[in-house]
Amino acid sequence: MPPTCRTQATNSVGDVHSGTAELFEAALAVQAHAHAPYSHFPVGAAIRSGSGRVYSGCNVENVSFPEGICAEASAIGAMVSAGESQIVEVVTVANGERLTTCCGGCRQRLREFSSADTPIHAAGPEGIRRTFMLGELLPESFGPEHLAT
Ligand code: THU
Repeated sequence: MPPTCRTQATNSVGDVHSGTAELFEAALAVQAHAHAPYSHFPVGAAIRSGSGRVYSGCNVENVSFPEGICAEASAIGAMVSAGESQIVEVVTVANGERLTTCCGGCRQRLREFSSADTPIHAAGPEGIRRTFMLGELLPESFGPEHLAT
């Protein structure tokens, strides 16, 4: 694969997901709207929902630092606000040379609407860098089924 190719992404079991490129482009586009004047670390996230639609969100920081929200939380809020409750695939985009994966809190937020085998792609501005399953990022997790009667 040429280094500039960002139209395909391979998950951890080797499948190529069509539509991942669309998610990546949505995450990259929304990253540009991040409100990150304190960290200077803009993040974009895009979710493919159960209906096939794409929902995106960016981090929104606040001068009262703990009140800031992550990009994943913004994207989940957009999805739920549209009446959907299933996450099929996620792409996050952050800058820098290091691989940026979802923070711990966002792993749990994604868990609410995902399965252990939901692909979570960690991207840089150039494209997908690594793909994880949610179960890899949050093993032995606590989920809605634990409270089911
Ligand atoms: N951030 C995200 O939006 N998602 C993550 O999973 C990692 C961290 C944001 C939060 C904060 O606005 C900035 O990155 C620096 O931590």
